[in-house]
Amino acid sequence: MQRTTKAKNLGLKSLSLLVIVTLFLCCAGGHLGKNNSGQFKNGMVVSANEIASQVGVDILKKGGNAVDAAVAVQFALAVVYPNAGNIGGGGFMVYRSAKGEVNTLDFREKAPAKANRDMYLDTLGNPIVDKSLYGQLAAGVPGSVAGMVEAHQKYGKLKWADLVAPSVALANNGFKISARQASELNGLKNRFTKLNPLGTALVKDTKWAEGDLLTQTELGKTMKRIEEQGRAGFYEGTVAEAVVTEMNRGGGIITKEDLKNYQAIWRKPLQSKYRGFDVVTMPPPSSGGIALIQLLKSVEPYPLKKWGFNTDSTVQLMIEAERRVYADRAKHLGDPDFYKVPVEGLMADAYVKKRMASFNWEKASTSAEISAGEVAPAEHEETTHFSIVDKEGNAVAITTTLNGSYGAGVVVKDAGFLLNNEMDDFSVKPGSPNMYGLVGGEANAIAPGKRMLSSMTPAILAKDGDLYMIVGTPGGSTIITSVFQTILNVVDFDMSMQNAVAAKKFHHQWLPDDVAVETNALDSLTSEKLKAKGYKFVSRGAIGRVDAILKTKWGYYQGGADPRGDDKAVGW
Ligand code: DON
Repeated sequence: MQRTTKAKNLGLKSLSLLVIVTLFLCCAGGHLGKNNSGQFKNGMVVSANEIASQVGVDILKKGGNAVDAAVAVQFALAVVYPNAGNIGGGGFMVYRSAKGEVNTLDFREKAPAKANRDMYLDTLGNPIVDKSLYGQLAAGVPGSVAGMVEAHQKYGKLKWADLVAPSVALANNGFKISARQASELNGLKNRFTKLNPLGTALVKDTKWAEGDLLTQTELGKTMKRIEEQGRAGFYEGTVAEAVVTEMNRGGGIITKEDLKNYQAIWRKPLQSKYRGFDVVTMPPPSSGGIALIQLLKSVEPYPLKKWGFNTDSTVQLMIEAERRVYADRAKHLGDPDFYKVPVEGLMADAYVKKRMASFNWEKASTSAEISAGEVAPAEHEETTHFSIVDKEGNAVAITTTLNGSYGAGVVVKDAGFLLNNEMDDFSVKPGSPNMYGLVGGEANAIAPGKRMLSSMTPAILAKDGDLYMIVGTPGGSTIITSVFQTILNVVDFDMSMQNAVAAKKFHHQWLPDDVAVETNALDSLTSEKLKAKGYKFVSRGAIGRVDAILKTKWGYYQGGADPRGDDKAVGW
């Protein structure tokens, strides 16, 4: 009898323990919502699309590592998320192995050999805006396929073909589009029809609706070639021919040589510290890494935790840091293979401190009075981000893009993939804003074979030798500030990964001299206080679509999938 009661008690105890543990695991992530399904021990993929996240997790389950999964996800996104997922674009990868080895891969697009600095100007020297945004001439030489081949050769474990095969099937068999995708495709029908007179799978006679099957057989053939021939399947032969034919059809300038010569480059990662966390991120030609490190260093001396999330002091400090950092970006950042970027000078503690010295709590600085700082010379709107971690703890952060949503709007006939419009990321004319309102100068002028400056900021944080966070986002110029805010939300404001990603954001980029805010990002008292000091707020729609992973102190992976999109965290 006693035994039975004991056993019962024990049973009840274990049951309550189980309930507590389950509740904890479900709720520790804060309000998980539809984009997030909990915490996992063996690995996780967070991307802009559930099908792509699932493709990645399937690779992890088959014994693939984070890089294998990343390659599979990059290709899957090119099929199921054509607005930004791509093989016709480029991107950056930040890698950190479970043992702490770090590396970064630059597979950014390049200006074709026939490009020249005035190619988007009219006879009076003014930018012809549409020329760098739509059509064949807007495209840089794509880097994504070369990037994936490089990443796989260096770190991959599974067979290449196994990583591409899911995307061949998705393209050929089709997938069900989301309501958001249906509405985008309907909205872009006229542009697609105009830019693709020979037809494309993205256009159909009737309206697209949620759940419709999007089948892309031309893309399927290209994916098959990549599966069978690797890099040559894209940069040479039939696909290269199709690209050149497409260029000739619409006044583009990418040649077979441009394609054959394209190389992805391993670059030395930028590394810094923020409140004891190691930060690993992307060096130029992205401006994102330098800017992120400058921002973190600018705010580190201040007690943000004490002030709290989005209070007037916190917001004011962040705006003033952003103003100074974006002014530097406009002058000093460009492709390091063409321009001496003062990387160390910009990130030096003394330099950042000096930049912040002019900030006055009583009154907003103006962007007219803040120009780029004098730095010690160098010693020598659509993108997508995904974060992946595998069972061993190897981590990958990739941000990849066509630049604008659906890139240049041109689907290469017979090859089925969208061309990027990344040429607009160059300073088409010094001082003239690009599609994100960013200005630039000589450092980012167009030159043949040069990479255009980017804001993409894939980043990985570690603490005491162990992985802590994988983070990144699309959003053009707002990428840098979104990654910055997400890191602060976790490190300073103790938010769960999901809450940090979902939290409302604001953004300042030096020029224009106003602060963009998501609806309800700031309470009215905070914004009134700041307005009285001279800050101008402009409300706007969603800022960023952050997809991130946090390793909790109990060793679980907690996803943050942005509710601003169809993004999804899938783990196992
Ligand atoms: O590389 C860059 O900074 C831009 N091409 C990114 C574009 C982007 O994030 C658009 N997304 N909404």
